[in-house]
Amino acid sequence: MQKQLLSTYEEYDSIEELNESDRDLLMKAREATRSAYAPYSQFKVGAAAKLANGEIIRGSNQENASFPAGICAERVLLSSASSFFPSVPVETIAISYQHKDQNHLYKPIAPCGICRQTLQEYELRFHQPIRIVLGGMNGKVYIIPRASNLLPLSFDSTNL
Ligand code: THU
Repeated sequence: MQKQLLSTYEEYDSIEELNESDRDLLMKAREATRSAYAPYSQFKVGAAAKLANGEIIRGSNQENASFPAGICAERVLLSSASSFFPSVPVETIAISYQHKDQNHLYKPIAPCGICRQTLQEYELRFHQPIRIVLGGMNGKVYIIPRASNLLPLSFDSTNL
């Protein structure tokens, strides 16, 4: 028997089409790229989260000369959220980036595999979906209604 895994997301032509809250969060993610420490890749990722208590926090990628010790912006952000507000769910995360090739910046980037796993854990922990807003410095914006849409057929605590 053949089965299908389906995943949906919304596409917008620009940040102007977003509601005020998402627009503000994506602007903050763009700003957060400035705090990235990315001397090795020059790929600066910024992320901003809106928490259920209204707090907004930010994160950016932090690299290391020992490459695997580097951490993606999304996991820096979720670690901060969990440390500062351990009992507050994350409602929405926006992710943006800067790249040395300016022609790249119109295209949204999506979280890497390890970050998807981390996002899913956060969602399951609070039994609440995390919306994800993806956008470059300009151009199209994608909204994924829940982080787990990015990780079909996943591994989680129920498998242990
Ligand atoms: N990076 C992130 O911060 N988030 C992602 O989802 C993809 C990749 C970072 C890791 C590394 O510092 C740089 O981007 C290049 O891979």
